[in-house]
Amino acid sequence: MRIAILCSGGDAPGMNPVIRAVVRSAESLGHETVGVRRGFRGLIEGEFVSLGARDVGGILDRGGTVLLSSREEKFRKLDYREKAYRNLQRENVDALVVLGGEGTFKGAELVAEEMGIPVIGVPCTIDNDVGGTEYCIGYDTALRNAVDAIDKIRDTASSHERIFVVEVMGRKRGFIAVEAGLATGAELILVPEEEFPKEKIPEEIVRVKELGKLHFIIVMAEGYGKAEELREFLLQNIGERFGEIRATVLGHLQRGGVPTHTDRIMGMKFGEVAVESLLSGERKGFVAYRGGKFYIEDFSMAGEYKDIDREALRLNRRLNS
Ligand code: F6P
Repeated sequence: MRIAILCSGGDAPGMNPVIRAVVRSAESLGHETVGVRRGFRGLIEGEFVSLGARDVGGILDRGGTVLLSSREEKFRKLDYREKAYRNLQRENVDALVVLGGEGTFKGAELVAEEMGIPVIGVPCTIDNDVGGTEYCIGYDTALRNAVDAIDKIRDTASSHERIFVVEVMGRKRGFIAVEAGLATGAELILVPEEEFPKEKIPEEIVRVKELGKLHFIIVMAEGYGKAEELREFLLQNIGERFGEIRATVLGHLQRGGVPTHTDRIMGMKFGEVAVESLLSGERKGFVAYRGGKFYIEDFSMAGEYKDIDREALRLNRRLNS
């Protein structure tokens, strides 16, 4: 079997360990792999690169993806997809492994259905928001990055007795905010999944500051709002009498850096399962991890709602504010 691999959407630390695992598992079982550069864009443009066991040496500890990634709108159009299918045929590709999030899996499903080759997805997104799987590659490293940054903000927040609004990634979801907030002792965590009206934030700051806390750190998912807008709102409502107010957007620094041991190991496991599932005859779906086991889930599951850790939010309210 000749298996092509591509990465699409936002990169995630741990994609390289997945690529390495797919290539080396396939090779050790007597199969061949080929890389597609720049995701679905590369599929349309025919950007294939040879990918053998030695080509993936030295990438285990590298963030990002050596195959490059893109968000390609053209793949929504059938004529571009047909171009991609012709390229896959020309390259004698028998199966495809696609690394990315929910949006990427929609494209992956189309390839499986329209072209008829087997396609397996590996959930890779720091947002950890793919349904049907407890874990997505990149999440642990993003948490490490966010925790590291918020700890540093805490030092300066305490020294100046300030109020900080720290915006973390999570376009639609609050996974990073909940865990990074709990781990750093955030006085308030704001996520799109939980109704916490903006109007209540000033009272909460006053309440906590009156308990004698030096600083007040709000960890807010980007899906809840924008840090600068919340800072403006707080300035208008309580001014700076409880401390100067600053806003920090952690942004893309959360997405980079050396993958943690969890993302490396999970990446290797997900990658091997992807290959083995193709060899055992799976036609389409993505590798999902639940309760310590791996499954192949239907692509449609990726869009299902997966809840944040409500217990973590409750614990944060008890311990950190
Ligand atoms: O990778 C997911 C994510 O990090 C989201 O949390 C964020 O909104 C988005 O990607 C931003 O990515 P980009 O700037 O690459 O579009």
